Amino acid sequence: MSVHENLYRLESVEKSYDGAWRLNIAALEIPESGIFAIMGPNGAGKTTLLHLLHFLIPPERGSIQFRDHRLTFPPPLALRRSLAMVFQRPHMLHGSVRRNVSFGLRLRGEEDDRRVEEIIERLHLDTLSNAPARRLSGGEIQRVALARALVLKPSVLLLDEPTSNLDPYNARLIEEILAETVENTEMTAIMVTHNVFQVKRIAHRVAMMLAGSIVESGGRDEIFDKPQDERTRRFIEGEMVY
Ligand SMILES: Nc1ncnc2c1ncn2[C@@H]1O[C@H](COP(=O)(O)OP(=O)(O)OP(=O)(O)O)[C@@H](O)[C@H]1O
Ligand SMILES: [Mg+2]
Repeated sequence: MSVHENLYRLESVEKSYDGAWRLNIAALEIPESGIFAIMGPNGAGKTTLLHLLHFLIPPERGSIQFRDHRLTFPPPLALRRSLAMVFQRPHMLHGSVRRNVSFGLRLRGEEDDRRVEEIIERLHLDTLSNAPARRLSGGEIQRVALARALVLKPSVLLLDEPTSNLDPYNARLIEEILAETVENTEMTAIMVTHNVFQVKRIAHRVAMMLAGSIVESGGRDEIFDKPQDERTRRFIEGEMVY
């Protein structure tokens, strides 16, 4: 466990799009270490929240504290570099899978061919390492996106639906890699998903998001065994929320 109790602390955070849609989070705390899952239906604001946590966009109101620091936007490069994101629709660079995976390290002047090969193997991408990344299937692209994030050894890994395009075998592979990485390193994973079963399998803490707000958050068993909010219960049981 780390010295910081909270990795993130959000207070009265608001963000809107075109005045029509509004994210409004009264309070949210994300502890350091473990897997924190953000679940909720389409359009709930999960990706928007992840972009705020990645400091890609500033909140319009409220504050986001990171490791006890109240930040101004944009935060320092060193801080940004301790975070990595696996986007919902990852964008592949021209060139091979290997080039995509090694690009971030090269940009930082920290080339490490051995580490690149290790990660490629770990994600079962070895047979594809010379293939042009832009021609890969959706599921292969998701694995490359995870490989190029993990190779940077981030202290915080933000994942937006990282297994949405994956077959069951590869989805389990990603789950195993995430579980193993948070167990064996100091990394915290913050994962957005609508896959309730996945949350149950690997998350330590869970936040339920609906219509731009956090409905409730807590330990996984707490949320699954005794959800406080009726809408969380219905979501977990697979009934439609809206
Ligand atoms: N750049 C943008 N401009 C305008 N509206 C946006 C923008 N990004 C998101 N929205 C809207 O904000 C709302 C929340 O979007 P967001 O992508 O955060 O939801 P989500 O929970 O990630 O959904 P999904 O499960 O479908 O990925 C949606 O109604 C979406 O249409
Ligand atoms: Mg999304």
